[in-house]
Amino acid sequence: MNFNRKINRQQTQSVKYDFIETLNKPEDTIPMWVADMDFSAPPQVIKALVERAEHGVFGYSEIDERYCQAVNNWFQTHFNWQIDPDTLVTTPGIVYAINTAIRALTKKGDAILIQEPVYNPFKCAIENNKRQTIVNPLVFKENRYHIDFDDFENKIKSENVVAFILCTPHNPVGRVWQEEELKRIKEICQRYDVLILSDEIHCDFVYPSNEHRMFETVNPDYAHRTITMTSPSKTFNLAGLQGSNIIIPDQALRSAFKKEMEKQGSAHLNAMSITATIAAYEEGAPWLEDLLKYLQENIALTQRFLEKELPEIQLIPPEGTYLLWLDFKGLGLSDQEISERLEKRCRIWLNAGSQYGVGGEGHWRLNVATTRANLKEALRRLKKIR
Ligand SMILES: Cc1ncc(COP(=O)(O)O)c(C=O)c1O
Repeated sequence: MNFNRKINRQQTQSVKYDFIETLNKPEDTIPMWVADMDFSAPPQVIKALVERAEHGVFGYSEIDERYCQAVNNWFQTHFNWQIDPDTLVTTPGIVYAINTAIRALTKKGDAILIQEPVYNPFKCAIENNKRQTIVNPLVFKENRYHIDFDDFENKIKSENVVAFILCTPHNPVGRVWQEEELKRIKEICQRYDVLILSDEIHCDFVYPSNEHRMFETVNPDYAHRTITMTSPSKTFNLAGLQGSNIIIPDQALRSAFKKEMEKQGSAHLNAMSITATIAAYEEGAPWLEDLLKYLQENIALTQRFLEKELPEIQLIPPEGTYLLWLDFKGLGLSDQEISERLEKRCRIWLNAGSQYGVGGEGHWRLNVATTRANLKEALRRLKKIR
């Protein structure tokens, strides 16, 4: 796979590229924001999709045994996690699943905890559904983010938290929570019977010396209070096909979740998504291996560039994801000034850290899942921030 191949994504109804015009940003802006990749999906996935398209009939579709096998084999092989097909529920996305779980399994006014800075649709899901957001801010210490477990427990207790949305690997700070941390999370949640919505969409992006452990494999005795959210969408760049796999071992929780989906009139996954998921999980592993090497080199290149050319900007070492969390505070500029300079002088589009909540200010998120040439050009432009 040649990850250096530049693919023109303009005029493809791409959120990342075509919103440049929609939002009136300078025409030659380089988009390094939303979390999708500038690479084509694995050739095996494209072949399967072409064959499916050529079949020509797109009637109602539903997952089958082969689909469940493909999902299970992937998680069995990569994470030593066995998925009972009866516990698998498919949804058109993880954000959809979080919203559904909140509506199905909590009540209006209930307190739900998140760890900011974190992927902002978590908070939107809580608040759009009229629940209350409780924040356990992550703590940055010795060049790494940590969980403040005392605050975690105190908030759960004092605010009567009923659910916690875990993000591992964590977007945007790049932590891959380790076994000890996942165990402590469980112990505290168990003490107060807190439901865990574990968003593990980035599980396949983990860099050497780190290991992603699925929350459920670390805490099998809490599976009945855990909902694990996975998808091939980030891993194989299939977000536009909208398919994800939600694992809900507890039958009562699963029934309530499905009932809520039914209320929304949502039942089946689309045919192309089913085809792509099967092909990706059955045949995509070697492609992913190559991709991870390419991304690692992109991360190393960014690190070297910043150290040498822009030491005022600090890269928080990523343990996982292709989203780099950059601390711009060394520039001594306000967020407003940085925003303006990024847009007008640098003409690169990064996500402002402030959108991820408490602790996000002064930071920007850079998506490095792009060609090396594009990344180099974006970094060259970033120098104009001074
Ligand atoms: C942590 C996290 N969860 C969920 C999503 C989006 O998932 P979906 O497109 O399936 O709703 C993203 C996308 O960036 C993400 O980073």
